[in-house]
Amino acid sequence: MICCATGCFSIFSVKAQTHYSDVQIAAKSDSLIKLMTLQEKVNMIHGSSSFTSAGVPRLGIPELVMSDGPHGVRTEHGRGWGEEKNVNDSGTYLPTGIALASTWNPTLGFEYGAVLGSEAKYRGKNIILGPGINIMRSPLNGRNFEYQSEDPFLVSKMVVGYIKGVQSQGVSACAKHFVANNEEIDRGSVDVQMSERAFREIYLPGFKAAVVDAEVNSVMGAYNKFRGQFCTHNEYLNNLLKKDLGFKGIMISDWAAVHSTRDAILYGTDLEMGSDLSLNSNNLSQSAVGNLPIPKTVYDKFFLADSALYLVKTGKIPEALIDEKVRRILSVMYKSSVFTKTSPGEYGSPAHIATAKKVAEESIVLLKNEDHILPLNAGQIKSIAVIGANAIRENSMGGGSSQVKALYEVTPMQGIKNMAPDVIINYAKGYTIKRNAIPTEAMINEAVEAAKKSDLAIVVGGWTHGYNYNNWNDNAYDAEGADKPDMKMPFGQDELIKAVLKANPNTIVVLVGGGPIDMTQWIDNAKGIISAWYGGMEGGNALAEIIFGKINPSGKLPVSFPKVLEDVPAHKLGDFPGKNGVAVYREDIFVGYRYYDTYKVEPQFAFGHGLSYTTFKYSDLQVKTGNKTATVTFSIKNTGTTAGAEVAQLYVKQEKLSLPRPEKELKGFEKVFLMAGEEKKVTITLHEEAFQYFNDVTNKWEMDRGVFDFIIGSSSRDIRLKGSGIL
Ligand code: BGC
Repeated sequence: MICCATGCFSIFSVKAQTHYSDVQIAAKSDSLIKLMTLQEKVNMIHGSSSFTSAGVPRLGIPELVMSDGPHGVRTEHGRGWGEEKNVNDSGTYLPTGIALASTWNPTLGFEYGAVLGSEAKYRGKNIILGPGINIMRSPLNGRNFEYQSEDPFLVSKMVVGYIKGVQSQGVSACAKHFVANNEEIDRGSVDVQMSERAFREIYLPGFKAAVVDAEVNSVMGAYNKFRGQFCTHNEYLNNLLKKDLGFKGIMISDWAAVHSTRDAILYGTDLEMGSDLSLNSNNLSQSAVGNLPIPKTVYDKFFLADSALYLVKTGKIPEALIDEKVRRILSVMYKSSVFTKTSPGEYGSPAHIATAKKVAEESIVLLKNEDHILPLNAGQIKSIAVIGANAIRENSMGGGSSQVKALYEVTPMQGIKNMAPDVIINYAKGYTIKRNAIPTEAMINEAVEAAKKSDLAIVVGGWTHGYNYNNWNDNAYDAEGADKPDMKMPFGQDELIKAVLKANPNTIVVLVGGGPIDMTQWIDNAKGIISAWYGGMEGGNALAEIIFGKINPSGKLPVSFPKVLEDVPAHKLGDFPGKNGVAVYREDIFVGYRYYDTYKVEPQFAFGHGLSYTTFKYSDLQVKTGNKTATVTFSIKNTGTTAGAEVAQLYVKQEKLSLPRPEKELKGFEKVFLMAGEEKKVTITLHEEAFQYFNDVTNKWEMDRGVFDFIIGSSSRDIRLKGSGIL
């Protein structure tokens, strides 16, 4: 399978389940709309409980049922926000978005989506609220763990697999949060200001791929504003999505993100959700509904409820605008399996768990492996010090709306025990998960003693999720509604790791979490470092199998790991978070490696980096250029003694520039699986869009003819082959 600028999904021929053509769906929807009263139509365009919107029972139209997402079907909320008891809601907990993207394997993206779709269907959900595809602009964003990457090309490739996978099950996916929801702290109010070029080149492509390539059935409008108008009802974004990109699905508001009845009707919100979270029983006055009865329930008070009814009844808004929203909702119902009976789906099945495990295996990134400290040989090891609260912490219920009740969750500690049942484990907690907590001397001593008396030490540290939805300040670092205060290791982990490294130089550091962390205080002394992300229910087993060499690591960073926060462009410029309600993206298109490479800033670990237990040799690069196209071929050989997979990355650079462009940009990649000694040829074809930039002045995508470099890397900084061609 080839991943290139034009796509890589020839194997994904499965379309959303539907028996009807678009024309038939339009006709069916229209004939239903004709039979509906205005009240019935209005009922369909706003929430009727925390995760449903109303149907029209007399016409056989069922409720539309939604659920988070994005890495499992959320804990059941029933019709309200209190958890329902005694329901079967313990299912498959998949690795989170950043882990999925670290696999650089769109096929696995499809399988991941198919698991979600199947489990959503089993639980009676019609829409799963994922994937989350906001660009990782800053390492501090509390939701990076749910998102995919700093790179729009990688995001675009991974989301297509995910969405097609979900929709192959007759369930709709929902690409969120459209757009530029890049900071959590003031997400409900911040106004994002960026150039059109940054929007088109960096922040839009993932959503464009979701709509155009994956035909996603729904998109969620972000909480924040974009150029002065809330994203959920933003005239510019709505026109772009529905007119320019041809989006035919439903624009769902984020929960309680609607601010105006008029704007929601005019500028594209098709379904208003979650406003019950911000409404109280007294705040809708008679004046909002004119001479209509005062709203009876909190759901009648939604902006798209009684006040919408009033605006239409008084002739201030044409009914056709409501019809248009209902038409979209009905068409999504027809496209998925809302009206049709399909297979019931599966929940927490062995096959689903196997997919969760496979994704975890391919996601784990071996960051550093000096003196081949890894893999460990269980037969030669008598004892291991396992240190760190994260070694025994379960994560599935953390982080906010993405919480999942896992059927079970294998922690790193359990995984290590499963892999090495005969090895003595000396455990020390090492640190306490609480904001501003620092380890006591006794805790450090306990860890040092454990490390000293063991053959080697594994410190499991990094970030943590918050569990308490209403009190993130307690321990939240990777969490919705909160951003990390800085990139430094929390809970005094630097001191702990330094002490353990001194006590036993054979120490491996495993980092849990949703993105970069400052390792500068101890990195030079640590021989082995692994990024394990939040690896889902089988994450501990996958991690241990990598540590002990049963699995050869093949994950690659989907985000650069800068050395320190001050190196991150948005922070260097003082633009994160926004100030006085406005976030100006002055770093423009120079996000992630586009900045580090162009401005010669050395990252700790480069975008696309990830080591293997084997070695790969790249050779025989050939570049054939055509009319605004190029075909790049090369060979990769596994020159080691272990089977493994390599993600070959193709970056493009234009030699002579008519405007500033990044040093290089990812335009193709392929994950190649090779037995020891095996060699394969890779062919990647690039089309015009791989060479274009967005010209802010002409407001068009343009290509300057000239010499382009084709750079093949094992990461964005480990360049193996280079060629060029005139285009
Ligand atoms: C989040 C969404 C989520 C929704 C419903 C919001 O707070 O931003 O991602 O889908 O809640 O839970």
